[in-house]
Amino acid sequence: MARRNLICGMDIGTSHVRAIVGEILNDGSVNIIGVGTSPSEGLKKGVIVDLDKTVEAIVRAVEEAERMVGSSIPSAYIGIVGSHVGLVNNRGVVAVSGEDKEITEEDVERVLQAARVIALPPDREIIDVLPREFIVDGYDGIRDPVGMVGVRLEVDAMIITGMVTSIRNLVRCVNRAGLEIDGLVLNSLANAEVCLSRDEKELGVVLLDMGGGTTDVAVFQHGHLKSVAVIPVGGDHITNDIAVGLRTPLQVAEKFKLEHGVALPSLVPDGSYVELQHIAGREARRVQPRELAMIIEPRVVEILQMAAGELRRAGCGEPLPAGVVLTGGVAVMRGVAELAEQVFNAPARVSQPGYIGVRSPVYSTGVGIVHYVQRTGGFQGRGRKGGRSALPDLLQRVKNWFTGMFE
Ligand SMILES: Nc1ncnc2c1ncn2[C@@H]1O[C@H](COP(=O)(O)OP(=O)(O)OP(=O)(O)O)[C@@H](O)[C@H]1O
Ligand SMILES: [Mg+2]
Repeated sequence: MARRNLICGMDIGTSHVRAIVGEILNDGSVNIIGVGTSPSEGLKKGVIVDLDKTVEAIVRAVEEAERMVGSSIPSAYIGIVGSHVGLVNNRGVVAVSGEDKEITEEDVERVLQAARVIALPPDREIIDVLPREFIVDGYDGIRDPVGMVGVRLEVDAMIITGMVTSIRNLVRCVNRAGLEIDGLVLNSLANAEVCLSRDEKELGVVLLDMGGGTTDVAVFQHGHLKSVAVIPVGGDHITNDIAVGLRTPLQVAEKFKLEHGVALPSLVPDGSYVELQHIAGREARRVQPRELAMIIEPRVVEILQMAAGELRRAGCGEPLPAGVVLTGGVAVMRGVAELAEQVFNAPARVSQPGYIGVRSPVYSTGVGIVHYVQRTGGFQGRGRKGGRSALPDLLQRVKNWFTGMFE
């Protein structure tokens, strides 16, 4: 997709597969020009359990995006769920190569390669390497050393690893859907591109992606990702509670939730009624939205409390200064931010992409992948620094897998 400077970000979620196509303009800004959404039935708790259904959903989402863009999409960057992801800190050291001792992008690439050298169990692969800071001749805290003069270049990096089998299944699905893989992006990093300001990441913030089958909890502090965790509970569980509570099929419960769901009973006026669609052999029923909210509230509180538990486990017991930012489909519901404020005892807000056509928290991951790739230079477009991201290496690695498969 090099000619028009297009990037396709693919969010393969538990409830939907979303393909987002962004056009990178000459000044480096991003325009979202294609969106494809398809219900996904091949995943459970963020993990692929049915390859064929996942492939079908990818194909449908991509076809829809292709129709909007008016050209074919040969490849995409894929979002990776955090459940099988591990974070490891490592250092890399190299001698600056040039005679004039000016640090080049090549040196940075080499030092990042050096940081990748860690002992990994055989079931783990490196997904990405994030430089936290560079150190030139002992001076630390450097964000971008290119152009500086020095002899010894070090990097303090965070290495993101994932389970080989999960990644391979994902690669296989995307490949069978007729797409090449340009790279993999951790969902939480993608969400952060869209949902968090630089100040929030610097001060310390919790980012919750409340999806259908999973809730991703990510902590950012001092400008970097600090921890990720995934709770295997999401909006589908709320639907399930409604189906049980109102004795109605799941599809009816889901539709009812989307239309009338509120997470905080006090936000619903007392005494109002809405109609619950009739099902085979039964009359339509009148239900109080407050009754619905009373079913939804405990599950949302449970998800938030589990997220708070994950934070304590990650060593973030105190409320973080920039509070909580919520995204993902469940965050669309009124009252979720209020509940988050109560549970975390910190300010909470809902965040979503600002582009027309994708202005909903459900698009944060897909749009975020496009932004992440644009910013880190995994995409070789104009006006961008190449080589800072681990994505080009990843491309090579994905190619190696494919070659490996045929050996
Ligand atoms: N307006 C709404 N009100 C209530 N719930 C909603 C609304 N819109 C979406 N949801 C819920 O959000 C969930 C889907 O969110 P999202 O699209 O972010 O999930 P996903 O990315 O497919 O899943 P996951 O991230 O868990 O793999 C579903 O449970 C859906 O019912
Ligand atoms: Mg999601």
